[in-house]
Amino acid sequence: MKFAPFALLGLALPLAVVAQTASKPQPAQPKAPSAPLVAQTPPMGWNSWNYFAGRVTEQDIKNAADQMVATGMRDAGYVYINIDDTWEGERDATGVLHTNQKFPDMKELADYVHARGLKLGIYSGPGAKTCAGYAASLGHEEQDAKLYAEWGIDYLKYDLCSFHRDVMEAKAPQDEAEQMRLMIAAYDKMGKALKATGRPMVYSLCQYGWDAVWEWGPSVGANLWRTTGDVQANWMSIYEIIERQAGLAKYAGPGHWNDPDMLEVGNGKMSLAENRSHFSMWAMLASPLLAGNDLPNMKPEIKAILTNKDVIAIDQDKLGKQAQRVYVEGQVEIWTRPLAGGAMAVAILNSGDDRVATHPFRLNLAKIGLHGPQKAKDLWTGQELTLTENQRLEIKHHDTLLVRIAQPK
Ligand code: GLA
Repeated sequence: MKFAPFALLGLALPLAVVAQTASKPQPAQPKAPSAPLVAQTPPMGWNSWNYFAGRVTEQDIKNAADQMVATGMRDAGYVYINIDDTWEGERDATGVLHTNQKFPDMKELADYVHARGLKLGIYSGPGAKTCAGYAASLGHEEQDAKLYAEWGIDYLKYDLCSFHRDVMEAKAPQDEAEQMRLMIAAYDKMGKALKATGRPMVYSLCQYGWDAVWEWGPSVGANLWRTTGDVQANWMSIYEIIERQAGLAKYAGPGHWNDPDMLEVGNGKMSLAENRSHFSMWAMLASPLLAGNDLPNMKPEIKAILTNKDVIAIDQDKLGKQAQRVYVEGQVEIWTRPLAGGAMAVAILNSGDDRVATHPFRLNLAKIGLHGPQKAKDLWTGQELTLTENQRLEIKHHDTLLVRIAQPK
């Protein structure tokens, strides 16, 4: 098996090289440390911001960790417990950052989270201040990365925020290209600092999808990058974000994902159909699944959405191919994604209301590359069904029919 690559590539090593290698055995080269593999499927977990915002405390994080286990979410794949903004205190005379009084002992908190089979994430940014005005990492990147590693942090969300004010305005770059170079360099600096610690940490860029981050994110070691501004717990925001993801599929893959922001499932006043559509589409988009709800008070119907194993399996599919929007008819849109083993997922989203002319909707199988009746599983009802050409489909207001076709024809 070891030599298979040469055979497969049909490579013939020049005879002189072979002879030289054979007569003079080379001393074994020390292996370059290989980059730790994280985020081979989109990261799953929970983040404090969408529910707690600036109020989050150590106890909330511990409660979230306990609930991840008690609700079965950990076993469904949610692993990261991420502390967002407002944990930061002041730097001491040596530049070491301390936590504020809400987080008295980060190492102990990391141990608590790890003891439950979970991982701990943290938040900072390339400017001097975070979005909420706390200390960020400008000029202290290596120091902060080392501190995270010492604490046992497994994930960093790195948020642009004051970078423009602190660096762009100070350096007054001549043009946009120079501006972009400065920003990429700042993200690269932290990417390298994290790598240098030797501790595997997921690196999550948060700069709202500016400057086509999906094109340069992987080059700074990012495992995910936000593609939009901040999500909000209402359908308008969820739908607007979905619309912005069309065309980004080619940038996602194992180790590097588009991030349409954290989940709002269970937050605000969204209907169950809207929560289902939100979760269905995030799974189709191979998005990180970071719940952001009040875990200790989660309603059973919300838990059922967040722990639907079939939908999670779409998100976590090993091929790592993000869905593409294949066609739109009126206010109904059809997205498909190829899955490992030749299977396929299809999401049919009714973004309109029940009165629109396109409803009920007739599926055009040929338009999504399928021919003849297709056996499928409805991933929300669990029922097996057969999709036929021009079949009339009733999809309620803001709901999504999400199916998996094991053997598409
Ligand atoms: C920005 C980010 C949010 C959150 C807040 C914290 O707005 O986009 O996700 O991290 O900062 O201040």
